[in-house]
Amino acid sequence: MKIYISKNEKQTLSFAKNFAKKLKGGDIILLIGNLGSGKTIFVKGIAKALNIKKSISSPTFNIIKIYNIPHNLDKKNKIKYLCHIDAYRLKNQKDLKILGIDEILSSQKTVTLIEWANKVKNILPKNNISIQFKTTNNKNERIIIIHNY
Ligand SMILES: Nc1ncnc2c1ncn2[C@@H]1O[C@H](COP(=O)(O)OP(=O)(O)O)[C@@H](O)[C@H]1O
Ligand SMILES: [Mg+2]
Repeated sequence: MKIYISKNEKQTLSFAKNFAKKLKGGDIILLIGNLGSGKTIFVKGIAKALNIKKSISSPTFNIIKIYNIPHNLDKKNKIKYLCHIDAYRLKNQKDLKILGIDEILSSQKTVTLIEWANKVKNILPKNNISIQFKTTNNKNERIIIIHNY
């Protein structure tokens, strides 16, 4: 377990950029925390580090979004796709199966980041990295806890 204190959005973005260096294909990162705790900001930082130019927004309504990672980075870390899932509005976790989640999660070319992963943990493979985001009494402060890494 590792604990990181973020003082503002920018620090969460750089924390994510740093975290991105350790990612490899097939990784599944569970993002846990209330609304507004910084999960999507973290995904933005990861996407930027992976050279994704498209802007990231929470896939709250479409549940799953997949981004191509530019070729130049591909050689270095073999990651071709970033999959961003937001399970917040998912009614039934089995619906993720229908959306083809098993194929995505088992791909060694894909890194998957899942917001509200606690809602779908029963259908996920075990032994993933999970990152917990907590708000504090300070408006722009977040406690970020990495488990299993
Ligand atoms: N230290 C911080 N880290 C991340 N976001 C922060 C921080 N301080 C303030 N914020 C703000 O909190 C909000 C986090 O939103 P978002 O990442 O969409 O949350 P979530 O996806 O967890 O619902 C943003 O408006 C962001 O500007
Ligand atoms: Mg979000």
